[in-house]
Amino acid sequence: MLAHTVSGDGPAVVLLHGFPLDRNIWEPQVAHLSSRYRVIAPDLPGLGESPPLSGDEPPTMAGMARAMRALLDHLDVRRAAVAGHSMGGYVALALYKEAPERVSGLGLVATQARADTDEARSGRYATADKVWAEGTGVLAYGMGPKLFGPEVRQERAVYRGVLEIIRRAPAEGARAALLAMAAREDMRPRLPGVDVPTLVLTGEEDRLIPPDRSDEMAAAIPNAVLVKLAGAGHMPMLEQPDEVNRALGAWLETVDPRAHAARPTPDPRR
Ligand code: MLT
Repeated sequence: MLAHTVSGDGPAVVLLHGFPLDRNIWEPQVAHLSSRYRVIAPDLPGLGESPPLSGDEPPTMAGMARAMRALLDHLDVRRAAVAGHSMGGYVALALYKEAPERVSGLGLVATQARADTDEARSGRYATADKVWAEGTGVLAYGMGPKLFGPEVRQERAVYRGVLEIIRRAPAEGARAALLAMAAREDMRPRLPGVDVPTLVLTGEEDRLIPPDRSDEMAAAIPNAVLVKLAGAGHMPMLEQPDEVNRALGAWLETVDPRAHAARPTPDPRR
């Protein structure tokens, strides 16, 4: 079972972290949303305190989505609004593909629907080898400076906290996540079929996933709401927590509470 926290009560909301992070990155959102919602924040397979994906199959986003479904089953959650940051967005899209009946709304934060280019894929394999040989410190060195927009790079505490999460990420889990990201499919053809309330949110200064990938998703998903935060980089939930909380709150207002109730609402006529 995936390590996770459940905070608050109400309709279920899932927050999925990015690579190679853990559930702690959503702390400001958990604190805010748990006054109205049952907020479920898991560590994705092999990261944080979660066990890696089991079995001999190569790791995939579909495998991560299945682990997420098992957690929803375990928590007796029939449907949830699912927000994913970056790699967490890839998992959210995979979950929507595999089990749309479990997803009442989609929040796509600093992410994209595209698959890797051949060049990006080769880069992932090289990084996976490096992480295996040298540990996740190499990621802190490589990704760290690109995570934040200019304002937070000055705020050493937030920056250092995220670097620390990266450094303590298990090498095996980070390697598996890199392979899963390299193997992920292009979700763009599926976007016009998304029929749940969708928020697409990005920082205008994101240097890891270009903000125009968010424009692309918002244009393709029917009725999606696009929020672009000036000055924010790849970690808007930590860089501009109040703005992100507001955007998530407004999105969740549009998700039918009956559609993401923890359990089927009993029919009062029976
Ligand atoms: C992430 O933040 O999850 C990753 O940067 C996503 C990616 O590398 O595609």
